[in-house]
Amino acid sequence: MKQLKRPKTVYVCQKCGSACPRWVGRCPECGEWGTLVEEVATPQEQKTKPFLGGDKPIPITQVKNLTTARLVTGIQEFDRIMGGGIVVGSTILIGGDPGIGKSTIVLQISHKLTQSNLKVLYISAEESVYQSKLRAERLQIDSDNLLIASETNIEVISAYIEEYKPDFVIIDSIQMVYRTEIPTAPGTVTQVRESAMALVYLCKRKGISLMLIGHVTKEGALAGPRTLEHMVDTVLYFEGDRFQSFRILRAVKNRFGSTNEIGIFEMKNEGLEEVANPSELFIAQADRKATGTVIVPALIGTRPLLIEIQALTSRSYYATPSRRVSGIDFNRMAMILAVLERRLGVPLGSQDVFVNAVGGVKVDEPAADLAVAIAVLSSYKNKPVQDGTLLLGEIGLSGEIRPVNHINNRLQESARLGFKKIVIPADNNKRLLKPEGITIISSSSLQNVVEMML
Ligand code: TYD
Ligand code: MG
Repeated sequence: MKQLKRPKTVYVCQKCGSACPRWVGRCPECGEWGTLVEEVATPQEQKTKPFLGGDKPIPITQVKNLTTARLVTGIQEFDRIMGGGIVVGSTILIGGDPGIGKSTIVLQISHKLTQSNLKVLYISAEESVYQSKLRAERLQIDSDNLLIASETNIEVISAYIEEYKPDFVIIDSIQMVYRTEIPTAPGTVTQVRESAMALVYLCKRKGISLMLIGHVTKEGALAGPRTLEHMVDTVLYFEGDRFQSFRILRAVKNRFGSTNEIGIFEMKNEGLEEVANPSELFIAQADRKATGTVIVPALIGTRPLLIEIQALTSRSYYATPSRRVSGIDFNRMAMILAVLERRLGVPLGSQDVFVNAVGGVKVDEPAADLAVAIAVLSSYKNKPVQDGTLLLGEIGLSGEIRPVNHINNRLQESARLGFKKIVIPADNNKRLLKPEGITIISSSSLQNVVEMML
């Protein structure tokens, strides 16, 4: 009698995607507790076939040049993050919380592409075509070049791609689609990975640009994140407070542009709108005479933005005082507090310290050190910074102020927004293009800046 083969089960970590032969409480790969979920392993003979088309090796000189053409959407905030548009044939993963506006932005991108006579295939795996139509009407999309199908089966979707030959394919979302030969449910790590792989290979072979939408899990990671992030060329995160209308699109990986770049949008009734003057967003409009606030011209990606740093110190009632940051690198703050304590003799050991970058951006460059230090001191001494002066500079361990990069771009943005005074590192004085209407004070010591400003 032929023996039936029992399907082999493996336990897959829902956070990092690594597989274990048996269940354990803690993932041996990423160390997370309770993330292992039973999945039926793919039988060997059903494993993914090679998709990239069995071409024989050829000399590299004979490989035809890939066109590095880019699909320019005309949505500038988006094009800039992408490094000047979507590279033809590339794969983009866009992640974010439910309801943040992922479907909206991809529909708007599709709309712009169809206006340049490109054919877009939108696979709506989560909503019916009627629901998508409602959204499209709200966004005033009226192009016959935008094809829409509500489908979840990868084989069917692949057949559509082969048949309709679109220039751009959108899968909304990757967690809802499945391959029939993979015996696990949609949304599991194996299914997400295998489905994405099938689509990525198909689109790469055909030179079609592909955009995958992914939901962020509770822990803030895309399901099966590591495997998906390796597979695609660009990973974007769409973030923002659901209680505020501003949304930040952030590139965390980009094979064709710089990472760290952000695009800023506002959710309006007629869809997402680009924010024309983003620096204004990150400066609390409150009283300039408040204590504990400093504005720094920080570089976010390649763009200078004025960002307000707020700090609060308050007497601690615990043996270990509390330190909290939001939008600032924790280790940098710890270093700055140590410099303040040792070099300037400020007794912060008895204080709880909270530091925050306004507006939900992440400022992780050392150029914001001086702003953080002065904000903390301003709160501690309960004195506002003189004349709302901007502060720029990296702080070294001996309390010296070190130079920053792209000084001229930063000065320009500061002057453009009407600020009158800025402190910069003395070493940046060379090759300075001084913009009109802003007084530049240079300094090389933290002690010196404190005496001047507070
Ligand atoms: P949606 O794109 O459906 O989010 P996701 O795909 O990330 O789950 O957007 C959802 C929210 O956006 C919803 O609360 C309604 C709001 N919205 C607007 O405010 N204006 C608009 O024009 C559209 C289309 C949506
Ligand atoms: Mg959606």
